[in-house]
Amino acid sequence: MIIAEQLKKVYTVKTKGKFLRRKKEQVEAVKDVSLQIEKGKIIGLLGINGAGKTTTIKMLTTLLAPTRGSYFVDGIDAIKNPIAIKKIINMVAGGERMIYWRLTAHENLWYYGQIYGVPSHVLKERIKDLLKLVGLEHKANVPVETFSKGMKQRLQIARGLINNPQYLFMDEPTIGLDAVVSKELREHIKYLATEEGKGILLTSHYMGEIEELCDYIYILNNGELIKQGTAQQLATETFNQKTYILKLYKQYGNISNKLERKLSPYDSSIKVTEETGIIKINCRENISLQLSRICVEEGILIKEMYELEPRLEDTILQLAKEG
Ligand SMILES: Nc1ncnc2c1ncn2[C@@H]1O[C@H](COP(=O)(O)OP(=O)(O)OP(=O)(O)O)[C@@H](O)[C@H]1O
Ligand SMILES: [Mg+2]
Repeated sequence: MIIAEQLKKVYTVKTKGKFLRRKKEQVEAVKDVSLQIEKGKIIGLLGINGAGKTTTIKMLTTLLAPTRGSYFVDGIDAIKNPIAIKKIINMVAGGERMIYWRLTAHENLWYYGQIYGVPSHVLKERIKDLLKLVGLEHKANVPVETFSKGMKQRLQIARGLINNPQYLFMDEPTIGLDAVVSKELREHIKYLATEEGKGILLTSHYMGEIEELCDYIYILNNGELIKQGTAQQLATETFNQKTYILKLYKQYGNISNKLERKLSPYDSSIKVTEETGIIKINCRENISLQLSRICVEEGILIKEMYELEPRLEDTILQLAKEG
């Protein structure tokens, strides 16, 4: 289990002041972030541009020393002992960094395997397995510069798994990938967590991806953790409101006023609006039973009726506005 407590990162940035004097400015990129990653779980780290996600991941992968805070991986103090941690963690970043274009897929993986000190006989088999896993076995001996973006990204995943890490950090792993490749990648991320028991931290700007994959989500804003929970919990908490949609077989005169009047004893916040035959009901309480009963009593023929699930995307937008 990964336990990070109150991680903080202050960058010192040199800026140009008056008369070309250099000024030093402190940027608090991450403020007191505490988070946990359990093995077998996929954890999401969300936030708008500049929220502090990459800085947090860099601290968790020991690429960057925190200004303050504590960080333990399976009971080992990762700040005091980063070398021990490096063996059991790894990182996959989106884009085309961290691979050598002149080298072949096999040579890249061999190079990184050596850095991690994987014994040669283990490494040989592992590279074979990983290339198969990411569907690049037929490209093993081809220089990476001839690869497509998706193929390079798949090689990144293989590289991130070369030391068979217990924990994997993925910073926007599907950025720039087509729908087919990113779907494959999502399936694979799920497989790594559920079948291989790896703990995964994932950042992404694609909310659908986070909703589909993550067991638990942390939301960063301006370097601060402002919310955490499952996708469902976050949405319900943020929007203390329900929306029902009602589609009818035909138009009924002044139906929205009638519904509002009949439903108001059950929820005083109720608001019914109608637009091009679609009736929208905003309220706080669960009024589905009363709504269907009133429709039956009034002889209103329902074509479709459902409660709108708030989407994670709306939650993020709302929280960013509030923060
Ligand atoms: N090397 C650096 N030196 C100074 N400031 C930095 C450095 N790296 C990041 N920052 C600042 O820290 C803050 C957080 O940046 P970070 O890259 O962690 O955000 P992010 O959440 O990953 O954003 P994005 O979604 O755009 O990738 C920003 O204000 C950024 O300008
Ligand atoms: Mg980033």
